Formats: sequence, C-alpha cells, structure tokens
Amino acid sequence: MTQSTALAQIIDGIALSQQLRADVARRVNVLKARGITPGLAVILVGENPASQVYVRNKVKACEDAGLYSVLEKYPPDLSEAALLARIEALNQDPAIHGILVQLPVPAQIDAAKVIEAIAPAKDVDGFHIASAGALMTGMPGFWPCTPYGCMKMLESIHFDLRGKHAVVIGRSNIVGKPMALLLLQQHATVTICHSATKDLKAITLQADLIVAAVGRRNLLTADMVKPGAVVLDVGMNRNEAGKLCGDVDFAGVREVAGYISPVPGGVGPMTIAMLLVNTLEAAERAST
Ligand code: GUN
Repeated sequence: MTQSTALAQIIDGIALSQQLRADVARRVNVLKARGITPGLAVILVGENPASQVYVRNKVKACEDAGLYSVLEKYPPDLSEAALLARIEALNQDPAIHGILVQLPVPAQIDAAKVIEAIAPAKDVDGFHIASAGALMTGMPGFWPCTPYGCMKMLESIHFDLRGKHAVVIGRSNIVGKPMALLLLQQHATVTICHSATKDLKAITLQADLIVAAVGRRNLLTADMVKPGAVVLDVGMNRNEAGKLCGDVDFAGVREVAGYISPVPGGVGPMTIAMLLVNTLEAAERAST
C-alpha cells in the first residue's frame, strides 16, 4: 500500500529560540536603563562532559542577550556543606537574580537538599518544591525550562490544547510531570505514560499531541502515531555513530505526524531560551 501524505512540518527550535532571545535582549536593555542588570549564577560540580557543554551554552546565551552571568566550577569532591554555603551567599547577593546548579551532582551531595536551598525567588530552573507547588496550583512562579519551552513551541504553531488528548511519555520532575501540568492548565486531557505503562502504542495512537521525554532512542515509531498528530521530542541520546538524536524515530514519524520537533535543533535551544526568560523575569520581579 502506498500513501501520498505530506511530510510533517518541522517546529524549528533554533529560529524560535532566536526570536525569544532577541525579545529577552530588548527587555534586558529596558532594565539596564533603570540600572539593573539581570544576573545568573551557574554552578557546576565535577567534570561531567555533557554538563560542561550545557553550562557553557547557558553562560554564552546569557552573555549574548546582555545578562550578567558567572560560571562557578567546583571539583568533584566538593562537600555538600560547602555547596550549601555558597548557595546561601548567592541567595543574599543582590547582583544575582537566578541560581542554577547543574544536575547531576556527585554522589556525596544530596541534589534535593541543594535544590531546596535555592531561594524560590531565584529558582530559575523551577525545580524547588515552592516552584512545583506554584505550577500545580496555578500560582505565579518559575516553570521548568524544558516544558516551558515546549509550551512556547505549541504556541508558535497556534496549537489549541483545549479538549485535545496529550500524551506525555516520561514522569521526571524536570520534564514529564511539569509538562503534564502545563498541558492540563491549557485544558488538554492528559495521559502520563512511563516504564510500567502497558501497551504504550494503544495510548499514543489516541494522542493529538505526544511529548517524548524518556531518554531512549527510537522509543516512538511511526506505527505509534495518529496521522496529523503533533510530536515534541525531548530526548537527548547518541546513536552508534555518536550523533545526537532524540526519543523519536524522526524519519519514520515525520511521514505520519502533522508537526514534529527535530533533535538537534528542537527542544534543546528552547530550554536555554526559557532559562534566559526566567532569569530576566526574576530580575524584573526583584525590581518592582
Ligand atoms: N541537567 C539536565 N537538565 C538540566 C536542567 O535543565 N537544569 C539543571 N540545573 N540541570 C540539568
């Protein structure tokens, strides 16, 4: 059987993130005219190679948009007490509006304790319990950058979520759970799938929107997607050749979906753009 369907439209995260970053740069200039420069502190403990790339990109994006940013690198044997003391000092530092501790942290450090030590007003990653609670209850707070970026991507294609069936694959605190809450806030009917889900395909086939956030290559294949569905790929994996790829079999799913975000060039750049937005907003809130 042959089908003459058009390929899915690509949701270009690079182009969209550039627009958002240009908007941040404009708003940074407004704040600077009032004598305020938004500041982000990025803390990296240890030498995880992927983390080193991520933090470098975050700091560079800040500089490009006119924000102030400091990258603090610590050796892998840094004590938890020393890190908590440093966070407390940054909480008190008026030049710093956002604090980000790159995860994962080494085993001697309790990541949950570190996240809870960050002042909620400076929690630009949106990982603090106060931020999670604010998201859950629809109160003002910081949304985690990756799901926030996904919502911006949906907005860019004018996807009206009301009454749509959104299927989120993955239940992490950083992506899956906040993603589901944001979609629910926009009146979608939301299903969260995970490693214990039975017959994933039967569920994804019902979806108008699929967000794949598991970290497994080719988790989502064309036979699992309803024609015309929107597919956002949050995965960051490497194939045998070491090439970056997502959770979605892009070539196959592209022939079925209505819209699809690629990896690289999809959700990744949006995550960084939303970090800038959150840091800018932290500075705006601190100044009013
Ligand atoms: N590690 C992987 N993704 C993230 C993120 O968005 N923020 C932080 N702090 N660490 C991460």
